[in-house]
Amino acid sequence: MTDPAALRRAIAAEWEESPYYAAAEGWLDTFWSEGSPFLRLFRQLDLSRVVELACGRGRHAAQILDQAGEITLVDVLESNIAACRARFAGRERMVFIVNAGDDLPGIEDASRSALFCYDAMVHFELTDVWSYLRETARILRPGGRALLHVSNFMEHPGGDHHDNPHWRNFGGLPVIRHLAARAGLSTLAAEVLDWPGAPGLDGLLLLER
Ligand SMILES: C[S@@+](CC[C@H](N)C(=O)[O-])C[C@H]1O[C@@H](n2cnc3c(N)ncnc32)[C@H](O)[C@@H]1O
Repeated sequence: MTDPAALRRAIAAEWEESPYYAAAEGWLDTFWSEGSPFLRLFRQLDLSRVVELACGRGRHAAQILDQAGEITLVDVLESNIAACRARFAGRERMVFIVNAGDDLPGIEDASRSALFCYDAMVHFELTDVWSYLRETARILRPGGRALLHVSNFMEHPGGDHHDNPHWRNFGGLPVIRHLAARAGLSTLAAEVLDWPGAPGLDGLLLLER
């Protein structure tokens, strides 16, 4: 398969009504425990108007309800955004967006203080990572920051991500950092991350508009 839209749809479909969401509610320590590189860099975000890209069923948003101002949740799956609407029904200042898988529709230019994306972009096609970097640069206000959990897997170019450890798509921290620069985002931090059984599999990028 080479059509970017078909690849994007196939990746999205894998997460429809997945058992992942319930199970992942129990795997929060990687992201939110003291000593986690995610939490250390997350604390450098201004949460006054924050976007979570590929939010799933909202397990990360649930961690920041008391610290954040407006929270915008974006996901390609209608079912995930419906679940988030139900989960956060009592909270004011929530915005819910179903997107097309490579865009941030309805988010005004230079309007947001931060964007983050965890445990999702690692699976995306690099062509869609590039689109999201440009969209992120568009929606962040000057000085706004993005924290992106990305694939650092650089083997099997042109291959099928199911053949790769933990379904990581072809990526690479230096490559994504370069694309971020071309999108107008400077790198504040670029850290290689180990994943269980897969040293150096992932990367974490803190970017600034
Ligand atoms: C492994 S789940 C992670 C969900 C959430 N980030 C978490 O950590 O719980 C992957 C998520 O990416 C979403 N997704 C897949 N392809 C996408 C795309 N092209 N754009 C936006 N979201 C996408 C899925 O719907 C799903 O919510």
